[in-house]
Amino acid sequence: MNAGLDNVIAADTVLSHVDGEAGRLIIRGHDLEDLVARFGFEDAAALLWQDFHQRDDLRVALGAARVEAHRLFSQLSAPWRDMTAVEAMRLMLASVPDGEDAHEPVVMLAAAGVAAARSCRLTAGLDALAPDPERGHADDVLRMLRGREGDASEVRAFETYLVTVIDHGFNASTFAARVVASTAARLPSSVVAGLCALKGPLHGGAPGPVLDMLDAIGDASRADMWMTDALKRGERLMGFGHRVYRVRDPRANVLKAVVQGLKGRANRIAFAEQVEAAALRALKGFRSERRLDTNVEFYTALLLEALDVPRQAFTLVFATGRTAGWVAHVREQEATGRLIRPQSRYVGPLPGRAA
Ligand code: ACO
Repeated sequence: MNAGLDNVIAADTVLSHVDGEAGRLIIRGHDLEDLVARFGFEDAAALLWQDFHQRDDLRVALGAARVEAHRLFSQLSAPWRDMTAVEAMRLMLASVPDGEDAHEPVVMLAAAGVAAARSCRLTAGLDALAPDPERGHADDVLRMLRGREGDASEVRAFETYLVTVIDHGFNASTFAARVVASTAARLPSSVVAGLCALKGPLHGGAPGPVLDMLDAIGDASRADMWMTDALKRGERLMGFGHRVYRVRDPRANVLKAVVQGLKGRANRIAFAEQVEAAALRALKGFRSERRLDTNVEFYTALLLEALDVPRQAFTLVFATGRTAGWVAHVREQEATGRLIRPQSRYVGPLPGRAA
């Protein structure tokens, strides 16, 4: 019995490979560093989707589908102000009807971007912005999310973030999406399953708490003591540790370089580096048998903060990028035609001995 399914291989995939010993991430034949240098978001999605989608029209198709998603979500009414942003996004994506096979991927990817921006704004009591189909997906989602357009460096930074998180092996949300897909449920249900699995702080919900941690520490001189105290209380340090990586998560380096490239962030980065170093010192002494290093979420928090993305939207933005990966995995799973159905070991009472 393996409660966390550690190291269990449950599928062959051509989509991505996480080498936890080397700290290397390969996405469909490209090292992550090469992918972010050469691919925009639509190109990276098309790379993942090449088995079931025509490559050249994705930017145009996504623009039109964002407009459709906006129209669909405008018909929904809910007590948005009483909901968290993730709850609102979950509700919106759950409202997307099953469609035709060929269009579902574009519909869901567009819907994720629109729902992320719209959920963030409505739950904060702000008006939702309509999409601009002429813009690239990253550009438009950033604009709808913040209520103002980004300059070229901001759009590039946001796009790099979406590409960086586009896929990552058999993580919890991707596995959840594939389990639902294996029952022959359609794509919208599988994507909603992915989002639900992304909600918790152990998977996609960590970047907001990373900023809470930086705020609570306040000054670098307090970082060592803060970390030690948190570990003594049995807390996990957000933005550190990973099921697969035994070394530093390569996405952390990519995102750190992006934040460093944004103007006016030098002080916050210097502080974050000191906090990161204190966390690594504390974790080294705390779990000497298991190396715990920085994961993607630590510099995700810094990057999204630098882009003025509201804290409550961090998980939603992650889902915006990762939806492209979920879609590709769902199609790959569907092609196997195999129901995912493991077994449990019964440890309950036998008949006649039950209380
Ligand atoms: N802080 C303190 N202790 C930790 C941390 C941490 N960040 N990470 C792991 N540990 C502890 C575990 O509690 C475990 O202790 P135990 O043996 O006494 O139970 C030990 O170190 C070994 O843990 P792992 O088996 O390496 O961790 P696991 O694979 O179960 O969990 C996870 C991985 C969930 C990411 C964990 O490291 C964690 O909770 N990190 C903080 C939350 C976080 O940053 N999440 C985002 C991950 S990246 C992503 O999903 C996109």
